[in-house]
Order: sequence, then C-alpha cells, then structure tokens
Amino acid sequence: MRLRTAVNLADVRELARRRLPRPVFDMVDGGADDELTLARNEAAFRGLLLSPRPFEDVTRVDPSVRLFGRRLSLPVLLAPTGGGRIAHRRAELAVAAAARGQDTVYVQSTVTGYPLEEVARAGGGGLWYQLYLPASRDETRAMVARVAAAGYRALVLTVDTPVFGGRERDRRNGFSLPLRPSPRMLLHGASRPAWAVEFLRGNLPTRRDGRLSAWATQRQILASPRPVTWDDLAFVRDLWDGPLVIKGVLRAQECRRILDCGADGLIVSNHGGRQLDGVPATVEALPAVVEAVGGRVPVLLDGGVRRGTDVLKAVALGATAVLVGRPYLYGLAAGGQAGVERVLELLGAEFTRAMALTGCRTVADIDAGLLLPPR
Ligand SMILES: Cc1cc2nc3c(=O)[nH]c(=O)nc-3n(C[C@H](O)[C@H](O)[C@H](O)COP(=O)(O)O)c2cc1C
Repeated sequence: MRLRTAVNLADVRELARRRLPRPVFDMVDGGADDELTLARNEAAFRGLLLSPRPFEDVTRVDPSVRLFGRRLSLPVLLAPTGGGRIAHRRAELAVAAAARGQDTVYVQSTVTGYPLEEVARAGGGGLWYQLYLPASRDETRAMVARVAAAGYRALVLTVDTPVFGGRERDRRNGFSLPLRPSPRMLLHGASRPAWAVEFLRGNLPTRRDGRLSAWATQRQILASPRPVTWDDLAFVRDLWDGPLVIKGVLRAQECRRILDCGADGLIVSNHGGRQLDGVPATVEALPAVVEAVGGRVPVLLDGGVRRGTDVLKAVALGATAVLVGRPYLYGLAAGGQAGVERVLELLGAEFTRAMALTGCRTVADIDAGLLLPPR
C-alpha cells in the first residue's frame, strides 16, 4: 500500500506505523495513562447513529464553511501538534503548505521545529497560532507581538496543560523530546532506515538557519508547561486584537465567563486523550458546551475524528467545524506535504459523500435531526 492507494485514514495510519520507529509512532499515536479517553473519543463517534433525510436534491453539495470571515473548503482544520519534526524533516512547513493548498487553516503550535515566521510564510498568511504561555508577562507580550507581526489570523490559547499528562508509552520507550541519540533510539532508528536518513538530514544541529535556536525553545517549553489563570486570559485578550480561541473546554460551567473575558471561539478538546485520562469523549462533551455558548461564538471540536461521518456528526451536534491532529501527522510521516493533502482529500471526499447521503446540500443543512435518537 502507498499513499495513493490508501482508501481511508486508517490506511494512512498504517503507512505511518510502517515508516516510523516504534517510539516515534507511539509518541504520536499514544495517550495518557490507560488511554481510556483516547479510545473513547473514537468510540463515541461510532456510537452515534445517523438518520438520513430522503427526497432532497443533492446533485450539488457544497461542503465549505465560513469561519472568522474566511471561507474554508471543509469544516476541517489542522490542530496544533508539537514535535512534527520527528515525523518528517519539513514538519510544520509541509503542514502549512498543505493547509494553504487545500483552503483550510493550520493551527501552528508553540512547540515547533521551525521559526514561526517561516511557518507563516509557508502557510501564505492564513494560519492560526496556538499559544503556550511563556514564563513571564514580558515574554508573553513579546511573543504575541511576534505572532501578530508574522501575520497569524487567530490566537488559540490552550488551557488543558497545567502539567503534562502521563504518557506511559513514552516512558516505556524511554522517549523524550528533543530526541537524543541513545543506543536504544539508534537501534529503533536502524529498524526504519528510510526514516533515520531523513531524520539525520533534517536535524543535525546547525546555527546558520536558526534550527538550533528553535530546538532550544522547544526544550524550554517542553520542560515547563504552565497553568493558564483567568488573569492570564484577560492579559492575553488585551494583547491580541484578532480572534481569540480557547482550546481545551470540556464543560459548560466556565463558558459564560470565558465569553465575558472576550473570547471569540471555543474548542471542545481533551487534547486527543493525552492529558487527563477519564474525561468524556469530546463529542459527548460537545452538546453541553454548545448549549452554554448559545450561538454567541463558534464552537469547534477535536479528538477522534477519523471519518467524514464523524465531521458530520459533530456539526449535527452544533460544532461549526472540527480539527484533526494525529490523522495529518500520520499523513506527514507517510509522505510529507502530499501525505497531509491526502488526509484532507480523503476526509473531504467522505464528508461530501456523507452530506449527500444524509440529504444536505450545504453545511447549514446539517442539524441534530440527522441523529438517532432524535434530539
Ligand atoms: C503528537 C501530538 C502533539 C500535540 N501537541 C499539541 C500542542 O503543542 N498544543 C496543543 O494545544 N495541542 C497539542 N496536541 C493536541 C491536538 O491539538 C489535538 O487536540 C488532538 O490531537 C486532537 O485529537 P486527534 O489526534 O484524535 O485528532 C497534540 C497532539 C498530538 C497527537
């Protein structure tokens, strides 16, 4: 099987599994503790039943959506993921270029292998930026100014990472970032020579192009995740003029206060099951958040989206759009920019088909009436 012949996202995951050394694949694929939430994210989508609407003329289907004034080809964005450079040499640059080519948004993570300005250029000005708070207010001010100057359209503040979740696969594999050439890692690398050659070509430290400094920043951020307080939220809101989106909301209680602080959007997310294990699947948490927000701002969702029908189910429950994380990292590992594009093409084709099969001409036609039991 190759990228071209991969028929769904599970196939692309399998390609990534064959390409990457086990500890690297596990770092991307794994979740926290017993991985209950990781599994539940996907299982909850599978548990939702669809109730198609017949007698609709669906010869033409338009899967595009508008978000913060921009038209996206699909209600599917690329979630922020750190450390892509272990999956592919061009990492964030390849993902940004793919998002640009497919008319969607890539949310660039603070944890990055390339300077944020370079990624912004690769994305053609359409990207969003995900912020992990730097250690001090001065650094935060400087960072947000840098993000604005680079042309990022929206700022995403992740609030579910006061400390890192317990990633047991990584501990078992002796894996940590930045990757160090331990004897064990060299052995794993030798079992995947194509990956190893690429990795070495792309990651030998050099001061010329800023790679070393980007890597150093990553180390610093990885070493010190920070809680985000209400004060921090207000502080960041003051610094940033564009849309501000809060990522990592799982319950209704705080929604009103988040909106009162001036947030322009929410992402229902459990970090792909990588933080607190034992929280609900995001599609289970979505309805309460949608109700609490009451249409004031867009609500997005990520976690476990692997099929076009998953996208449709999330939209039916009130999400404006979804984001995917691991699926495009599998694509990136399997084939760089072309792999990310393939993932978006597959999801786009599945989503468009699901719209036609449920009788929806536009994304606005997707509603809770398409789910069983009726809501
Ligand atoms: C390898 C990896 C790295 C991630 N890094 C970040 C990050 O730096 N910042 C962040 O807000 N979320 C991060 N996430 C979480 C994703 O943004 C997203 O919430 C999650 O991947 C969605 O679930 P899915 O992988 O099932 O699509 C990461 C996820 C993965 C798999």
